[in-house]
Amino acid sequence: MRSLIFGATGTVGSRVTQQLIDAGARPAVFARSAKRTKALFGDRVDIHVGDLESPGGSLATAMVGVDEIFLVTEGVDLVDRDRAVVSAAVRAGVRHVVKLSTLDVRTGIGTGPWHARGEAAVRGSGIAFTFLQAAGFMSNALGWAESIRGERVLRSSTGDGRIAFIHPDDIASVAVAALTTRDHDGEALVITGREALSYGEMAAAIGRAIGEPVAFEELSDREAYARTRAWAGEGPTTDALVDIWRSVREGRLDTVTDGVERVIGRRPIAFAAWAAENADAFR
Ligand SMILES: NC(=O)c1ccc[n+]([C@@H]2O[C@H](COP(=O)([O-])OP(=O)(O)OC[C@H]3O[C@@H](n4cnc5c(N)ncnc54)[C@H](OP(=O)(O)O)[C@@H]3O)[C@@H](O)[C@H]2O)c1
Repeated sequence: MRSLIFGATGTVGSRVTQQLIDAGARPAVFARSAKRTKALFGDRVDIHVGDLESPGGSLATAMVGVDEIFLVTEGVDLVDRDRAVVSAAVRAGVRHVVKLSTLDVRTGIGTGPWHARGEAAVRGSGIAFTFLQAAGFMSNALGWAESIRGERVLRSSTGDGRIAFIHPDDIASVAVAALTTRDHDGEALVITGREALSYGEMAAAIGRAIGEPVAFEELSDREAYARTRAWAGEGPTTDALVDIWRSVREGRLDTVTDGVERVIGRRPIAFAAWAAENADAFR
């Protein structure tokens, strides 16, 4: 089977690509930068350079001979890019699309409505699909590195609310299983980490990983908004993040499922293991 990977220079797509290579495959990759892609995978992938904002004929070229797609798109208007990819996929005779989506499709929180529209576009194309409705990624915690490194503090507006962050390796393993077995065609797989933790508990886990205590300080929604606007700007991304954190605080995002174990036959990786693996980022 021939796979075409989108988002291969990103957190999840890079792991999906690497796992396919490790399994002996030679995936094709649709990427904006051949240089960034080569730096990650050398000549072990076929690189098709293109930009989903203005793909022109690049999608049709990339899809020649492709059976399966791993689809990563982002932003408030991601449905436009999902639609462009599946239209080209239908024309090229692609048989299966695995789309990285979000658990929030089920709650309508944060980016949920963006992905709900993307899922509808994929469903509407008639191609067999699998949706990965993932919880928040453990790698989001890298965004806490600066204040933990500098002040040994994590600040957020999530209060005592909990969320079951998932390791990106687990998402990639589920994606590869869906791509290669076709056992999950037509399914929306809700995948989370093994346990829901508060941000205070995750700060403590990072503290144990670096051998020094890390404190948790609560922010108001207004403070969280101001801090996020400083780097993400005013607009839908900042609004979505503040919405997600508020929902964590209100206990609306503490879902834990057995989705990962059902698909790959082992429990999801614990947050403590992710923290140990990434300890250097926080020292
Ligand atoms: N973070 C979370 O907690 C979370 C939870 C659930 C679902 N999600 C979903 O996960 C997805 C993000 O996955 P990720 O974190 O693995 O991605 P990521 O690390 O942010 O990387 C994004 C990837 O998409 C590529 N890309 C961006 N714009 C592109 C364009 N116009 N044309 C072609 N490629 C483009 C980037 O390539 P370049 O190298 O060229 O930039 C990069 O490879 C989003 O849909 C998000 O909603 C996230």
